[in-house]
Amino acid sequence: MYYRYRQRIIDMDTKRISKTIEDILNRQVRKEAEAAQIFLSYAIWADDQGYEGVANLLFRHSGEERDHMMKVIEYIQNRGGKAKITALNAPPADPKNLKECFERLFKHEVENTTSIYGIVNLAQEEKDWATWNFAQWFVKEQIEEETLVMDLLDKLKIAGGPDATDESLLLLDSQLEQHNDEADMARDADVENP
Ligand code: FEO
Repeated sequence: MYYRYRQRIIDMDTKRISKTIEDILNRQVRKEAEAAQIFLSYAIWADDQGYEGVANLLFRHSGEERDHMMKVIEYIQNRGGKAKITALNAPPADPKNLKECFERLFKHEVENTTSIYGIVNLAQEEKDWATWNFAQWFVKEQIEEETLVMDLLDKLKIAGGPDATDESLLLLDSQLEQHNDEADMARDADVENP
């Protein structure tokens, strides 16, 4: 993050991303921050409902979304742009049940994938191969994230879907607690290795 200092002492325009790339990346900063808040609010809802396994998974995932935000901020700054921190939309109302919770999370991840593809497309259009390369990390990450939520939906279906009993939902919850390593989560992550 010493780019600004370098830029000042050499006194020339060393900005290496266009305004359009800077803007789309800043929109992604906001999306990742909003995702962190959405996961956090669902984690609190799950904890309140007694689903501790789901809550732990979502709390950790919220941290992962924040790491994504930091990764984009660091890239913007290192390329001579300026990251922006803006007001965020409030998370949606609590889901009615686990099925709605997981379905909304899946929809959210798919929307985020579309947003990442937008960055890849723009980078390609501008022949900004550094940004294109940077965005590839997120393309791969989105595959993992969609898979994680699809897996949750599958597990819920196996537990009985709309007819799942309280017992089977609690069993699913405790399985998630025991098998939380299935998802590569935020506990060991940092900006370098989110
Ligand atoms: Fe940062 Fe869930 O994508």
